[in-house]
Amino acid sequence: MSRFEDKIGKNIIEVKRLSHIYGNTDRGIKNISFGVKPAEFIVVAGQNGSGKSTLFRHLNGLLSPTSGEVWIHGKTVSSNLEYARQIVGMIFQDADCQIVGQTVFEDAAFGPENLRLPIGEIHKRTNNALKQLGLLHLKDQNPATLSGGEKRRLAIAGVLTMRPEVIVLDEPFSNLDYAGICDLLSSIIWLHQAGHTIILSTHDIEKVIFYASRMIIIHQGCIVGDDKPEILLKEVEKFGIREPCLSKLGMNIIPWDK
Ligand SMILES: Nc1ncnc2c1ncn2[C@@H]1O[C@H](COP(=O)(O)OP(=O)(O)OP(=O)(O)O)[C@@H](O)[C@H]1O
Ligand SMILES: [Mg+2]
Repeated sequence: MSRFEDKIGKNIIEVKRLSHIYGNTDRGIKNISFGVKPAEFIVVAGQNGSGKSTLFRHLNGLLSPTSGEVWIHGKTVSSNLEYARQIVGMIFQDADCQIVGQTVFEDAAFGPENLRLPIGEIHKRTNNALKQLGLLHLKDQNPATLSGGEKRRLAIAGVLTMRPEVIVLDEPFSNLDYAGICDLLSSIIWLHQAGHTIILSTHDIEKVIFYASRMIIIHQGCIVGDDKPEILLKEVEKFGIREPCLSKLGMNIIPWDK
């Protein structure tokens, strides 16, 4: 039994009536509620400015709610930040802002070093994560010199060394070319098959929808759909999200990368 399986059936994350309004504007997210179960693969779909990044920043306490709360395994994120960040690993929309090391290895090792794990354990976790993400041959390279796709995979490797139960990826495919998207997609599929719960945001659902077990549509800061992707696909264009071509043609969705 994997360490994730003993919690099957219970929500890992519960977002309860969460609102975050920026300053004196009416922008942000409003009254968002949903639960996340182990092994789900959730696509959070919404057009630019709909509130995806704002929502994600609450899942590991980078933003504090205006009202409502996020709970992780029954503990509020706001008063258990360190715990929340061990359970939920975040890959930001901008991979550059996640780089902290002088070399690829140092960068990926930052998390376990911060946890003050024994040196052997740090090396084991870091080498494994770099290997899984196809970056071991670049371990001595300066992260600033990596390609966009490699930077995003490095961000995932860094998160993976912390062994999070949930991996949250905010617009992971932006600015990547076809090969970069295929590489990243196969890494994400592998993470899911390895037992991680995946929450991924995108305004372009075509690439990932085949693999998703659930889609949450966010529009103007509110959830307007939360169901199996096949149930929601015909609805998405009302909310500024492009319906996948195959769905438009009335055909079954097939993997984008095959
Ligand atoms: N720091 C901020 N101050 C004021 N308004 C903000 C701030 N950050 C985001 N917003 C506003 O909140 C709304 C939601 O923004 P958010 O970045 O969460 O959207 P998004 O769905 O992630 O968009 P994108 O697809 O472009 O990444 C937008 O209207 C945005 O202008
Ligand atoms: Mg965003």
